[in-house]
Order: sequence, then C-alpha cells, then structure tokens
Amino acid sequence: MPLHIVILAAGQGKRMFSALPKVLHPIGGKAMLAHVIECAQQLEPAQIHIVVGHEHERIMQALNHYAVNWVTQTEQLGTGHAVMQVLPHIPDDATVLILSGDVPLIKPSTLQKLLDRAKSEAYTNGQLGLLLATLANPFGLGRIKRNETQQICAIIEEKDATETERQIQEIYSGICCARAVDLQRWLPQLQCNNAQNEYYLTSIISLAVADKTPIYSLTITEDSEILGVNNRLQLQQLERLWQKREAEKLMLAGTTIADAARIDIRGELHCGRDVFIDINTVFQGTVLLGDHCSIGANCVLTNVTLGENCHILPNSHLDNCILESHCEIGPFARLRPGTRLAHGCKVGNFVEMKNTSMGPSSKANHLSYLGDALIGAHVNVGAGTITCNYDGANKHQTIIEDGVHIGSDTQLVAPVTIGKNATIGAGSTIRKNVPADELTLTISTQKTVSGWKRKEKQNA
Ligand code: UD1
Ligand code: CA
Repeated sequence: MPLHIVILAAGQGKRMFSALPKVLHPIGGKAMLAHVIECAQQLEPAQIHIVVGHEHERIMQALNHYAVNWVTQTEQLGTGHAVMQVLPHIPDDATVLILSGDVPLIKPSTLQKLLDRAKSEAYTNGQLGLLLATLANPFGLGRIKRNETQQICAIIEEKDATETERQIQEIYSGICCARAVDLQRWLPQLQCNNAQNEYYLTSIISLAVADKTPIYSLTITEDSEILGVNNRLQLQQLERLWQKREAEKLMLAGTTIADAARIDIRGELHCGRDVFIDINTVFQGTVLLGDHCSIGANCVLTNVTLGENCHILPNSHLDNCILESHCEIGPFARLRPGTRLAHGCKVGNFVEMKNTSMGPSSKANHLSYLGDALIGAHVNVGAGTITCNYDGANKHQTIIEDGVHIGSDTQLVAPVTIGKNATIGAGSTIRKNVPADELTLTISTQKTVSGWKRKEKQNA
C-alpha cells in the first residue's frame, strides 16, 4: 500500500496576530511547515500533499524547493473539509497519514511507530490510527472519549466539550492515519453542526465506531513532539524545546556547550571533536566548526567554516567567512562576507574585514578596516589602518604582498599595490603603488609653536 502524507496548513493562524502566515514562522531558523515536510520526507512516502489556503501563494513560493503536491482549500471550512480536498489526488489503495503544519517537532520515528502498528493489526476491515498524549494542561485540544470498556468512541473539541469532558487529560495530537478508502466513505458524511460550524476531521472517529472499523492508538511519551503553535507564546516555547534538542544532540556527540539554554542554532551547526561553545552564541545558516575550535560568549556566526583550532573570542560577528586552521579572531571583530583567512591568521579587536583574503600567518590586531583587499602571507597590518576602497562611486582593490609591514594609522587609497616585504611608515596616506623591499612613507612635518597659548573661557 503506497503511503500518502497530508499536511494541513490552510488556516490563517489568527492568534499569531501576524502578517506572516503562521506556518512560515520559523523554529530554529526554518519555517514550521518545512520542519513537518522534512519529517514527512524521512518516511519516504509516495507523495506529500499540503493543503494551503490562507496566503497560499506566499507559502508555496517560500517553500517551492520541496517536491510536494500543493492543494488549495479556498475556504477554510475545517480540518475534515481540508482532507477532503486532497482525496482526489490519492489512490484508493493508499494509507494516508495526516499531519498538522503547526505541529513542527514531531519525529519521523514516532510516525513510523504509528504506521507500523497498523501493519501489525489485522487490516482487512480497514482501520484508524490515532496519535495521543496525556497532558497536565489539555486546554484547547480535542479530548479522547472512551466507553465503559475503555474503547475510544469519540474526539470532543474543547469548544464543544461539557464541563466534565474538559476534565479529560487524554488528547488527540492532530496526527492520524487511515486507509484512503475509509476516508472516502467517512468524509462526505461529516456535518458542521458544532460550536465552530466546521467540518471536523475528528468526527471520523464516531463514524469509524459506527461502521465497526478498528481504532488503535499510540500514546506519545515526549509531549514536545505534539505541541502545536497557535500563538507566539507557544512559538517561543517550541523554539526553546527545539534548541534544547539540537544542543543535546551536539553535546552527546562530543561538543561542550557552556549552557544549553543559552545557545541558538538557526540552521545547521556541525562540530568536530572537542569544540567549546560559550554562552549567548548564535549560529545561522550552515556553520562548520573544526576540531578543537572555541567560540566565545556573545558571538554570532552566519554561514561560517572554521578549520581546526580556531578561536573566536567574545563579541565577534562572522558572516559568510571561511577560515583555515589556527586562526584567532576578536574579541569584538567583525568579519563580513567574503572574508578568507589562511592558516594562523590573527584578527583582533575592532577590526572589520569585507571581501578580503589574508595569506598564512598574517595579522591585523587592532582597529582597522580592510575591504576588497588581497593580503599575502606574513603581513602585519598596524593599528588604525584603513583601506580606502570606495571613491564615492566605485569600489577598488588593495593588494598587499607577502611580508609587508604597515605602520599604524595608514590609509591605503585603492586601487593600490604594496610590493613584497615593503614597509609603510606610520601615519602615511598611500596613493601610489609601493615598491617591494623599501620603506615608503608620506611625511607631514612636526613643528612646535613656542609661546602658543590655549584659549581660555571668557567670563559671562
Ligand atoms: C486540531 C484538532 C484537535 C487536536 C489539535 C491538535 C480538529 C477539528 N481538531 O485542533 O482535536 O487536538 O488539532 O493540535 O481537527 N486547517 C486547514 N483547513 C481548515 C482548518 C484547519 O488546513 O479549514 C489546518 C490548520 O492550518 C492547522 C490544522 O489544520 O494546521 C489544525 O487546525 P487548527 O484550527 O489549528 O485546529 P486545532 O483547533 O488546533
Ligand atoms: Ca492548531
């Protein structure tokens, strides 16, 4: 039987009070719905169908890199109505697994368990599998109603529940599986005579009971997997749960994290052996940290690759950079896109680099701007050196060859080339190419005006 997965994502998410459709709000830097799609993909279904409605064009565009079948539900008449829109796209012999776009932390292993349970039971009469949980605070969720013999007989939505039914702590996760043929029989029978005037998918339970279709359930042990996002408070709670999961994975694989509650991974972080990550660190996009690297407190790394033994000292920002091994950066360094550092470079405090590469063992230890520069090996850039790369209209390149020593407070007016092993005297403004091996400097003479008096403040 082919597996078809349906993800419900047509609702507006009113309680988010947002211009962004709810399922595009990120968890760990990735749209909620993308988490659900990636989870579904791991089950290798014949097809994934996503029901979209509210802002469907925006959602489809944001996630158009996923190979899924988008189905539009023009009017959001309820979860049952949503599934009905997909049925024509699903073959009769399929098993259908239904997921919610706003329940993003569900794990493939749990879904596989739910599906496997179906296989282990007699399948001849069809059946309905429900993923359940027992929660201390079940508010807002569909409650599981059982008969005298403890068989599931209905799901009651919060808004339709009596006071006694609201006391029930066993809830429906919004995730279920059924045969396509059974759904084809049940869904057209749904009615909307309930508190929300909606066609509830959860009404199929009573229909299954009525036609004696066996119902089985799987009760989840890790509640976080089935928590849904309806408002921003829940969004933040799930964000923290996701971050905790990611941090735990890294720690169990050998990374030391100073405080798992103070790290944020908004994308993918891959660590080599014996990496140390201090507090308040943010990793965005894809970040690769080599063996024995350390990341100091308050650093933000976006799409960064570090070779082994690199040390990023506190309060540094690295954005789209590649560093080879044994580099030391910061504290308070800013490496902007296009920074490439070879083995053993040092970039110190208040140094900004952009679209600049440095050869092995070069240094810029203090207070500099290095933009659009090609810097060789064993170069020392003195404090206060500025590449004047912008003439007000265009950007120009500065080339600094191997072994150059640049004195402090130097302006290099690009385009300009500093020849190999040249030395630039402190306080120079270099406007012309500099020959190799020589000392070059611009001289502004120092003079003393004797007898000069500083102005004094006049009395009013
Ligand atoms: C639903 C379940 C409830 C369960 C809970 C778990 C129903 C009637 N209720 O309630 O039993 O405990 O999930 O989180 O199913 N959607 C559509 N089209 C629609 C309506 C909804 O695609 O017409 C989508 C929503 O975008 C959302 C999902 O279906 O992704 C669930 O809908 P929502 O309104 O959030 O249902 P809940 O009240 O959370
Ligand atoms: Ca919901």
